[in-house]
Amino acid sequence: MPFGRDLAPSMLHRHPAHGEAVARITWCVDQHAIGVITGEVGAGKTVAMRAATAALDTSRHVIIYLPNPSVGMRGMLHHIVTALGHTPKFYTATLAPQAAEALATEHAERGRTPVVVIDEAHLLDNQQLEAIRLLTNHDMDSGSPFAVVLVGQPTLRQRLRLGVLAALDQRIAVRYHLGGMSAADTADYIGHHCKIAGRSDTLFSDDAIRLIHNASRGHPRAVNNLALHALTAAFAADHAIVDEKAARIAISEIAAD
Ligand SMILES: Nc1ncnc2c1ncn2[C@@H]1O[C@H](COP(=O)(O)OP(=O)(O)OP(=O)(O)O)[C@@H](O)[C@H]1O
Ligand SMILES: [Mg+2]
Repeated sequence: MPFGRDLAPSMLHRHPAHGEAVARITWCVDQHAIGVITGEVGAGKTVAMRAATAALDTSRHVIIYLPNPSVGMRGMLHHIVTALGHTPKFYTATLAPQAAEALATEHAERGRTPVVVIDEAHLLDNQQLEAIRLLTNHDMDSGSPFAVVLVGQPTLRQRLRLGVLAALDQRIAVRYHLGGMSAADTADYIGHHCKIAGRSDTLFSDDAIRLIHNASRGHPRAVNNLALHALTAAFAADHAIVDEKAARIAISEIAAD
């Protein structure tokens, strides 16, 4: 089945935006910096972040991945402390310093750099962002003992600039907005997915690809959905190739959802 969701990192399509996002995240980790990766829904943010963290040497890094910040500030701190092998303190007043301490000493004690990755970071509430600000508020001269990567929708950027969060915003060393693929990249992306599903011959006409690209604005998840619907439409019409008509059917079907 082509256009599946769970590709191994080695099977990903390496379009330039994906590569740039991965490179920026890797740099952020190397520098122990704070990075912010934004992009529209389905732009490939989580995929890029997973590709970057999967390539890290696990003997030298400990990845603390929070898939969804809806756990509140305590939940977030709890997760960090637990991931570093400590037993979380009960009161927030002691839990926050415990998390800071655990992050600060991990490298000295076990030689591993903590990499805190928060996905869907546009959902972080102010209390959580303030907690992140405090965690990253260490002595600048000694350098940061860990890296933080915030991954989220474009509203994350605006939120970080507001009021009390400006202090956190000023410490962000890496920012990258993952845009849609170019038309050529979308064509290549569709071909790539067909190839890993076992078809290297032409399955989509140029017209069909152009329509899918325009409707998806080059965002991978939308491309996947449209391409799959178009394949089904072509199959139902007993056509050997996805033509313009099949692509139009897919676009109207998805728009009607
Ligand atoms: N480089 C890539 N190679 C192959 N497939 C990809 C690539 N990038 C994204 N995809 C596909 O697009 C889908 C959506 O990507 P992803 O989940 O990373 O988007 P997202 O930006 O995190 O979206 P959301 O805002 O909804 O969390 C993936 O499930 C995958 O199928
Ligand atoms: Mg995601």
